Amino acid sequence: MRAFTMKRFASLLILGAAFLLGCEAPPPESVQRGYRGTGMEALYNPDTLQALVNANQVPAAIPAVSSEGPKAGDIYQNVEVLGHLSVGEFTRLMAAITQWVSPDQGCNYCHVAGEGFEADTLYTKKVARVMIAMTQNANENWGAHVGGAGVTCYTCHRGNNVPEQVWTIGVPPRRAENMGHMMQNVAHQESSVYTSLPIDPFTPYLLEDGVARAQGDTALPQGHEASIQSTEHIYSLMMHYSDALGVNCTHCHNSRAFGSWEESNSERVQAWHGQQMVKEMNNAYINPTNDWLPAHRQGPLGDAQKVNCATCHQGAYQPLLGANMLADYPNLGALAPAPEAAPAAMEETPAPMEMETSSLDQGVMGGEAN
Ligand code: HEC
Ligand code: HEC
Ligand code: HEC
Ligand code: HEC
Repeated sequence: MRAFTMKRFASLLILGAAFLLGCEAPPPESVQRGYRGTGMEALYNPDTLQALVNANQVPAAIPAVSSEGPKAGDIYQNVEVLGHLSVGEFTRLMAAITQWVSPDQGCNYCHVAGEGFEADTLYTKKVARVMIAMTQNANENWGAHVGGAGVTCYTCHRGNNVPEQVWTIGVPPRRAENMGHMMQNVAHQESSVYTSLPIDPFTPYLLEDGVARAQGDTALPQGHEASIQSTEHIYSLMMHYSDALGVNCTHCHNSRAFGSWEESNSERVQAWHGQQMVKEMNNAYINPTNDWLPAHRQGPLGDAQKVNCATCHQGAYQPLLGANMLADYPNLGALAPAPEAAPAAMEETPAPMEMETSSLDQGVMGGEAN
């Protein structure tokens, strides 16, 4: 049910523009998303639509170059993830990466002037190498989520050294601690979208293997197995999903039965794959970079800044409103062929998570269950 295509988006915009001309406060536009009568519809405000479009313009692609000629791996001394590219492609990608991640600092954000480009002196270069593999892996192995549009560094970075929307493991705000509650009942927290729900819904579901299940299958209280606490974490996570994508709950669910996969939109399944992809990014790629990170790039508990849905989506139902930048940078489409494939940081696969429950039920998250 992927009805909300760019075409439809464009017609909405035109509609929005017509409204803008006609009156001062355009009424929100409603788009039906589910079967008639199910109340599954989305409301769009023509005013904010234009702002969203403005915020999601993509930079012009650097002209393509030949894949013929000597390979980077034959010419350069210390290439682990891009050695299979032609020297021309390699240079073009370095220029693109600079534009996407460090437009102000230039090449020297990762390389030291006067030193050879092969030196791994700066932590930023080592992080960038992991990031290249993380991006290639997302495109090669997570088609079930990113399939249509693909991912480049720009999807997350947008010209910033660190993407604007990242998270670290939460510490309870003082007030919440005093109240004996665990990281909740404090409104004005961006992570829980200004509700007084738990402020760190990410650790259990985007780092650990928590599975969001709250609904019982009977109308009787005995049928409900989830604790109130984990239910609150699920709702907090769901607020993040909706906020990150700029949609409401019915983009994915039929509110008649939130738990029913049969009655959900296909976007909910795509979201589920996204959840698994984000967990892999955080565990297999981002966490290992923590060894090199300076303190100002770490959270209060000393962990690396991690990915959630907003890191890519930034308020759009598809990042960059579905623009396919990967088509212009196919070298980020797949991991380097073995044996160059595995930089040291990634040789260790994360320990398989044996926990059936998340840390919520084990009190690891810095507070007692209450
Ligand atoms: C955001 C970090 C980053 C920026 C900015 C960057 N590079 Fe790189 N550069 C890397 C990484 C990571 C590698 C290693 C790639 C690999 O392992 O396959 C690399 C490797 C190289 C190499 C190969 C050196 C060797 O002998 O091993 C050259 C040449 C190079 N970069 C040139 C440039 C130029 C020129 C620019 C600016 C236009 C630039 N880089 C900007 C991260 C960066
Ligand atoms: C690495 C970047 C990235 C991250 C992180 C990410 N997504 Fe996505 N997501 C995408 C891309 C790219 C698409 C568009 C794919 C396409 O064109 O089919 C997409 C599409 C979607 C869609 C389909 C929307 C529609 O109406 O077509 C949903 C739903 C979604 N993502 C949910 C999520 C959720 C929930 C999370 C967090 C658990 C998440 N995404 C994290 C990149 C990302
Ligand atoms: C899914 C989102 C995502 C994508 C895609 C992504 N990054 Fe990142 N990047 C992050 C996050 C989160 C951090 C902070 C974590 C860290 O420092 O390890 C980060 C940090 C970095 C840093 C460290 C900057 C600093 O000042 O500390 C560099 C360099 C970097 N990324 C380069 C890249 C390059 C190059 C690409 C594309 C090949 C890329 N990133 C793709 C999310 C992303
Ligand atoms: C982008 C898609 C998406 C949006 C938007 C979304 N959800 Fe979800 N929801 C999911 C996915 C995926 C799961 C299952 C996650 C898992 O398996 O860990 C889920 C699970 C749930 C559950 C648990 C279902 C069960 O089996 O017990 C509830 C309740 C729920 N969502 C409510 C909401 C509410 C309320 C909103 C709006 C504030 C919302 N969701 C918005 C995708 C979404």
